[in-house]
Amino acid sequence: MKCIILLTEFLLFCVNFILGEYFYDVNYVDVPVDHFSFTNNATFKLRYLWNDSFWNNDGPIFFYTGNEGDINTFAQNSGFIWEIAPSFKALIVFAEHRYYGKSLPFGKKSFSDPKYVGYLHSSQALADFVYVIDHIQSLNQHFSGDSKNPVIAFGGSYGGMLSSWLRMKYPASVLGAVASSAPILQFQTPCDVFNRIVTSVFQISSENSDCADIIKKSWRALREVTGNAEGREWLTKTWKLCDSLKNENVAVLFDWLQEIYGNLAMVNYPYPTSFLSKLPANPVKTFCSKLSITSFKPKPLLEGLGKALNVYTNYTKDAKCTNTSETSSTSIGGLAWDFQACTEMIMPMCSTKRDMFEEQAWNYTKFSHDCYTRWNVQITQPNLAIIEYGGKNLGAESNIIFTNGLMDPWSGGGVLHNVSDSVHAILMPDTAHHLDLRAYNRNDPTSVLHARYYIQVIIRKWLQSYYREFLNTYYE
Ligand SMILES: *[C@@H]1O[C@H](CO)[C@@H](O)[C@H](O)[C@H]1NC(C)=O
Ligand SMILES: *[C@@H]1O[C@H](CO)[C@@H](O)[C@H](O)[C@H]1NC(C)=O
Ligand SMILES: *[C@@H]1O[C@H](CO)[C@@H](O)[C@H](O)[C@H]1NC(C)=O
Ligand SMILES: *[C@@H]1O[C@H](CO)[C@@H](O)[C@H](O)[C@H]1NC(C)=O
Ligand SMILES: *[C@@H]1O[C@H](CO)[C@@H](O)[C@H](O)[C@H]1NC(C)=O
Ligand SMILES: *[C@@H]1O[C@H](CO)[C@@H](O)[C@H](O)[C@H]1NC(C)=O
Repeated sequence: MKCIILLTEFLLFCVNFILGEYFYDVNYVDVPVDHFSFTNNATFKLRYLWNDSFWNNDGPIFFYTGNEGDINTFAQNSGFIWEIAPSFKALIVFAEHRYYGKSLPFGKKSFSDPKYVGYLHSSQALADFVYVIDHIQSLNQHFSGDSKNPVIAFGGSYGGMLSSWLRMKYPASVLGAVASSAPILQFQTPCDVFNRIVTSVFQISSENSDCADIIKKSWRALREVTGNAEGREWLTKTWKLCDSLKNENVAVLFDWLQEIYGNLAMVNYPYPTSFLSKLPANPVKTFCSKLSITSFKPKPLLEGLGKALNVYTNYTKDAKCTNTSETSSTSIGGLAWDFQACTEMIMPMCSTKRDMFEEQAWNYTKFSHDCYTRWNVQITQPNLAIIEYGGKNLGAESNIIFTNGLMDPWSGGGVLHNVSDSVHAILMPDTAHHLDLRAYNRNDPTSVLHARYYIQVIIRKWLQSYYREFLNTYYE
C-alpha cells in the first residue's frame, strides 16, 4: 500500500514537473520603459499570467508581484494562492518582473550596455505592476464609477519584498499584501546572520552531529588540496568536475559550494521539490546523512564531502559531470539579479569563526569595485533601498502580513514582530524559505497550516471592510 502511495506521489511529482500543475492564459501589456521621466516614451511588453476560472467579476484580484526569474516558476511554486482563490472567488494574476523571463525591455540587448540595463530598478518594477493592475481593473467594468476590484498582492522572497513595498508605495492600488519570507531588513542586518542561520540549520536538521563541523573543516582542506596542480587534478577527478580545475577558478569553486549550502537550507522542504534544483525531502538531513568521512585528512574529507554534494548536484543520477559554473547567477535570472544586487539590493554578507563557513569579512570597497568591473555602473548610494523604502521604519504602514520560517536563512532580514494592528508578523519556527506559499502537502508542519489559516482570516477581514466601505456590498 505504502509503495503504491509513494509511487503515485513520485509519478505525480514527475508529471507536475514536466507539465506544470497550474494552468493559465499568457498575456502581455505595453508598459513604459521609464515611468519617471517625460523624455523617453518607449514601451515594452510585460508578461502576465491570468486565470479567471474562480472569478465572478466582483471578486478580488490576487496579484503575484513577480521576482527574479521566469514568472512561470513562481506560478507553479505558489500553490497556496491557487488553493485559496476559489473560496475568495478571486482572479489570479502573476505579473513578471521587468528584465526577467520574457519581459525584456530591449530584447536580447537588454544587458549589453548601462543605457539599456539601467531601467532595471525595483521602483520601475513596482510602477509596472501598478500599470498592470490598472489595466486589468479597467478591462472589468463591473462596478460603477471609480469603484475597482480590490487587489491583494502576494510574493515570496524578493517577490515578497515587492508585494510589501507595493502596498507601502501604492496603497490606493493595493488593499493589502502577503509578504512571505521577505527580507526587507536584510540591508541593515548584521552581515553574518544569513550564514549563522545556515549553520544552525545544518546543526539542527541532521542526525549526524559532525555535519556542520566537517563542512567547517573542509575549507582548509580545500585550500590545501587546490593549492597545487596535483591536488586540483585529484579534485577534478574525485568530484567529476566538468572543467579541469585551474588555479584561477578556485574562487568560483568556493563560491559555488557556499551557495549550495545556502540553497539547501533555503529549500529544506519536507517533501521532494524542484525549485532551485531537483531535491529529495529534507535535503539538509539527506545531505548530512550522506556525509561520512573516514578521516579528517584533506583528501578523505573531500572525498566524503563530494559524495554528499551529489544530493544537490546529482539527485536525478543523470549528471554527467559536476558543473561549478551552474549557480544561481547562471540560472534563475541570475544576470539581472546580479545587476540589482550591485546597484540597489545591496545586502552585506560575511562569515565568522562562529559559523561553518570560511571566515570572510564584508568588504564594500571590493564589492563595489567588482560590480563596476562587471556592469560599468557606479553604486551611487549603498543605502539606496533603505532610503527608498524606509528600512525598519514601518510605523506608517498598514495591511501587510509578513510570514517567516525561522529555519530560513533569510529570516534574519525579515519582519519578525507585529508592527501594528494591521501589519502582522507570523512566525513558523520549523520551516524554510516561503514554504507557506507552496501548495498543501501532507508533510507540511502544523506551523505552516496555522500560518495559511491566519493569512486567509486576515485577508478576508480586509476584503469585508473594503466591500462594506467602498462598494456598499457584502463580502462573505
Ligand atoms: C485555472 O485554474 C484551474 C485550477 O487549476 C483550472 O482548472 C483551469 O483550467 C484554469 N483556467 C485556465 C483558463 O487556464
Ligand atoms: C515618441 O517620441 C518621439 C520623439 O520625441 C515622437 O516622434 C514619437 O511620435 C513618440 N511616440 C509616441 C508613441 O508617442
Ligand atoms: C551521478 O550518478 C550516477 C549514478 O549513480 C553516476 O553514474 C554519475 O557518475 C554521477 N555523476 C556525477 C557527476 O557524480
Ligand atoms: C555549465 O554551466 C554553464 C552555465 O549554466 C553552461 O554555460 C555550461 O555549458 C555548462 N557546462 C557543461 C559542461 O555542462
Ligand atoms: C577590501 O578590498 C580592497 C579591494 O579589493 C582591498 O584593497 C582592501 O585591502 C580590502 N579591505 C580589507 C579590510 O580587507
Ligand atoms: C502577532 O499577533 C498575533 C495576534 O495577536 C499573535 O498570534 C502572533 O503570535 C503575533 N506575532 C508575533 C511574531 O509576536
